[in-house]
Amino acid sequence: MYIDVSYPADKRDFYKFLEDQLALYAGGESDRTAALANASAVLKLAFPRANWAGFYLAAGEELILGPFQGRPAVTRIPYGAGVCGAAWREGRPQVVEDVSCFEGHIACDCASHSEIVIPLRGENGSIWGVLDMDSADYAAFDKEDEAGLTACVEILRRFAP
Ligand code: SME
Repeated sequence: MYIDVSYPADKRDFYKFLEDQLALYAGGESDRTAALANASAVLKLAFPRANWAGFYLAAGEELILGPFQGRPAVTRIPYGAGVCGAAWREGRPQVVEDVSCFEGHIACDCASHSEIVIPLRGENGSIWGVLDMDSADYAAFDKEDEAGLTACVEILRRFAP
């Protein structure tokens, strides 16, 4: 059962709390879809400034929309396309303060102004998807969020194909 919580103001404490929440609601689940569904719900609740939180999963040469919270989104992203595809191609997180300045940004919601994308890695380090979060605010995400979310998605490593 979900219980509404208040989140620590300190970012370091916030991310420790968020890791514990993800472990509680997604850590014990063996089904990938169910775990990612709850993980996206936990993330959306934890980031009130986020208008979209979810996953894209690698399939061949594209990313396919997975579980998410927010308005309907593009369902397929070619390798290297958009912010998500850049995270996949470059093998590193993308923190975008103003999406209008990101060449090739794919706009799912015209209200989104900033974005963070974190690659999902398997045991061998290969990328099997991305976590994508958008915000209607500019510069809603920073390097601390990049580090914190990178640590958080480690809980999903076991779902790599
Ligand atoms: N903005 C992303 C596309 C996914 S929607 O934001 C959910 C991108 O440029 O890859």
